[in-house]
Amino acid sequence: MKTVCIPGEAPYRVLIGEGLLRKLGEELRAVHVPCRAAVVTDSAVAPLYLAQALAALRGAGFDPVHFVFPAGEASKTAETWLDIQRFLIRSGLTRADLLVALGGGVTGDLAGFAAATYQRGIPFVQVPTTLLGAVDASVGGKTGVDLPEGKNLVGAFHQPLLVVCDTDTFATLPERCLRDGAAEMLKHGVLADADLFEKVASGRWRDGLPALVQRNVEIKCGFVAGDERDRGRRQLLNFGHTVGHALEALSGYTLSHGEAVAVGMAAETRAARKMGLTNLSETIILKGAEANGLPAACGFSFAEVYQAALRDKKRTDERITVCVPLRLGEAALHSLSLDAFADYLEKGLTA
Ligand SMILES: NC(=O)c1ccc[n+]([C@@H]2O[C@H](COP(=O)([O-])OP(=O)(O)OC[C@H]3O[C@@H](n4cnc5c(N)ncnc54)[C@H](O)[C@@H]3O)[C@@H](O)[C@H]2O)c1
Ligand SMILES: [Zn+2]
Repeated sequence: MKTVCIPGEAPYRVLIGEGLLRKLGEELRAVHVPCRAAVVTDSAVAPLYLAQALAALRGAGFDPVHFVFPAGEASKTAETWLDIQRFLIRSGLTRADLLVALGGGVTGDLAGFAAATYQRGIPFVQVPTTLLGAVDASVGGKTGVDLPEGKNLVGAFHQPLLVVCDTDTFATLPERCLRDGAAEMLKHGVLADADLFEKVASGRWRDGLPALVQRNVEIKCGFVAGDERDRGRRQLLNFGHTVGHALEALSGYTLSHGEAVAVGMAAETRAARKMGLTNLSETIILKGAEANGLPAACGFSFAEVYQAALRDKKRTDERITVCVPLRLGEAALHSLSLDAFADYLEKGLTA
């Protein structure tokens, strides 16, 4: 088993390894006295892993109850959040109890937000079962739900008590989910680790998953530590996401997050290169995306992307901060006026 320690106001450990779901109760008992544990999961994960999680919790003296919601981003809403709150009340959960988020990023964000708000906050544990959840969403404490007006518009920072990642669960993931994880790993490589980038960009990374997840968690941790509230260095993790989020929304979410981010990373690198901010060529990103079955371009115009990007919440006043990859393994933040941002997008979205 590999362990990454995440520092901060409430430090926690990320445990990564094969067969860890069986040890969930045991590991949890090391950080919390046995109590009632509400397991929140989705309808695709429940038939695969819920029984095992419940048995592991019972075996370690916990008293588990469970809540299953329909799988998919469409469930990451205030309505499902409220259903969970009412389930927690009916189950008699108190602040001495805890919540277990068993599933991908949707489950982690939704259940994490339920934990952040139930009785003004109860502890929760992340058990990511997607690659994207493991390398990205389960670490850093961002939780929340979507509104019809946009993604992740309501949420809270709430750090987990523990993250338990059983890499064996990735064996049942659909191919598209693995690609989404690959896109975030490419991002981590560009930002902080050229070797990681080369490995993921080769498309041959599916052996040795625990070590790969560990490296990605370390990188994410490096950006989150000291900036839990996303005011400085953590914003570098938005590489590919300024354009990516706009594309996701414009596609009506038919583009997956990873697909949109892959196109976004290439576009943002092209824009930065054409503006003379970097010598890194987008070609290297396009190749890495292609090797992982991720798209290189999208059909949306610069004007559409500009409007969609302005609706995104990361705008402060009349400026937008973008992430500029300087070389593989190093990036910097760059603040642009809205006019300069329009120019940036036009350059990024035209070949
Ligand atoms: N909080 C953060 O910092 C952060 C970071 C990145 C992404 N996110 C959020 O994460 C979400 C995307 O996460 P995701 O891609 O994991 O989506 P997801 O949770 O919807 O999982 C994708 C699909 O895979 C299924 N699934 C999950 N585990 C499985 C398994 N082991 N075997 C078979 N099927 C399985 C799910 O039921 C779902 O249908 C988005 O809502 C995004 O906003 C949050
Ligand atoms: Zn992302």
